[in-house]
Amino acid sequence: WVLILDYGSQFTQLIARRLRELNIYCEIHPYNVDLTKVSSPTPGGIVLSGGPMSVNDEGAPHLQAEILDWEIPILGVCYGLQLLAHSEIPGSVEKAEKREYGRANLLIDNAGDLLKDIPTGSVVWMSHGDHIHELPDSYDIIGHTANAKVAAVRHKENDIYGVQFHPEVAHTDHGKQLIENFAYSICGLKGDWTPESFIDEQIASIREKVGNDKVLCGLSGGVDSTVVATLIHKAIGDQLQCVFVDNGLLRKNEFQSVMELYTRDLNLPVRGVDASSEFLSELKGISDPEEKRKVIGRVFIEIFDKEIGSDADFKYLAQGTLYPDVIESVSFKGPSATIKSHHNVGGLPEKMKLELIEPVRELFKDEVREVGRTLGIPEHFIGRHPFPGPGMGIRVLGEPTKERLDLLREADFIFIEELKKQGLYNEVWQALAVLLPVQSVGVMGDERTYEFTVALRAVTSVDGMTADWAHLPYEFLAHVSNRMINEIKGINRVVYDISSKPPATIEWE
Ligand code: XMP
Repeated sequence: WVLILDYGSQFTQLIARRLRELNIYCEIHPYNVDLTKVSSPTPGGIVLSGGPMSVNDEGAPHLQAEILDWEIPILGVCYGLQLLAHSEIPGSVEKAEKREYGRANLLIDNAGDLLKDIPTGSVVWMSHGDHIHELPDSYDIIGHTANAKVAAVRHKENDIYGVQFHPEVAHTDHGKQLIENFAYSICGLKGDWTPESFIDEQIASIREKVGNDKVLCGLSGGVDSTVVATLIHKAIGDQLQCVFVDNGLLRKNEFQSVMELYTRDLNLPVRGVDASSEFLSELKGISDPEEKRKVIGRVFIEIFDKEIGSDADFKYLAQGTLYPDVIESVSFKGPSATIKSHHNVGGLPEKMKLELIEPVRELFKDEVREVGRTLGIPEHFIGRHPFPGPGMGIRVLGEPTKERLDLLREADFIFIEELKKQGLYNEVWQALAVLLPVQSVGVMGDERTYEFTVALRAVTSVDGMTADWAHLPYEFLAHVSNRMINEIKGINRVVYDISSKPPATIEWE
């Protein structure tokens, strides 16, 4: 496996992505992680990420120099490279006269293992303000650009390499080749981390952990919790008990169709619980988004609590936590503000004294989908758009009453149905309808109407962290709008959201 030490670059996760694409397991840890915690099993390679600071800044993140003695191959990227130089000759890195952002052409002086199969002159992506003006004698330059005389280096004796550009970004033409060279040729790693091997390992470790106890798993109808439940079911059979709650905030027909998938296709031991009236009555009069999330989270806890009852064999709670939620990224912007409290089922264990099982906490979303496919979960389910835990509760702006939820369910149904019919569903990362608490005047036949507005939102994204509004065809939008206004009594206006994230967010609340 590969240890990635994070120095705060916005691209650190991409290094992990590229390695995972090579079927190599890797983990991201902060640069100052306690090394004893990440040295067993011993990594086969270490990558030092880029970072936003200058190695000369006071309090700049430092190199834990003992890794240089581990005799494990190291690749320093941008800040990582500069740290390697700085650790030998303090002052060897200085502010460049010309900061370098964007494309440059890598001219190869000596390919060796790192740059083999990369054509000289190929495009690399630079993003740095400092440069190395004095390379320690222990290193050779193996590549340069018009602007940077030190663009790639190799230690004379050890397997230590550094590059000034970012091989992990898509704009570096042969970046993937470079990372492959490092991982396969230099570290000697095999690329045997596959969905199959992941599943086998998880099954063994779940069995060992759980023993004869029972596991409770709350299903949300989403891909993550479904994969988790299927995996655990494979490991411990009916010691797993799943609960799928109808909170009254689900999509049209969602409860029935997902229950069918769980029981008929996946054979999961799942209890369907209709708690819609509890949720809606607790949400009465509540219109603040965060308040709604809190109420919904609390009612989920109460229902799970009831499901366990007095059965003391329940020792574990399974959750579909993903890697991006776990990575303790180094941030130099100070504590990040809470934009939205994505509740999932957080806060549950403390109250219920259950220990967590999070079998996919090391995976990215697309890796979870891959594992799901390998587990035999049907494709139409794997490819579903993400759906938030609080469901339509945060898509009816203001108080989510049954009447308004029903209106939104119809609108959402038409939107999604048309996206699928016209082959656009898989073109967007997520699509949703929002019911605005705004009534406006319209005219239908000879009648005046005074009804609600629906906002349509569709975005393209890779991970939901940033997103652009999807440029859906006008004809498609016109058709959807027509259907909604004609078919749903109570809606007389449809608008399309053309904001990106940031500064907007994907959901409206
Ligand atoms: P935002 O609106 O923050 O959404 O751009 C990013 C992604 O997260 C989903 N989302 C949630 N998921 N509980 C969840 O489980 C929540 O409270 C929540 N709020 C937003 C959203 O659907 C999108 O995929």
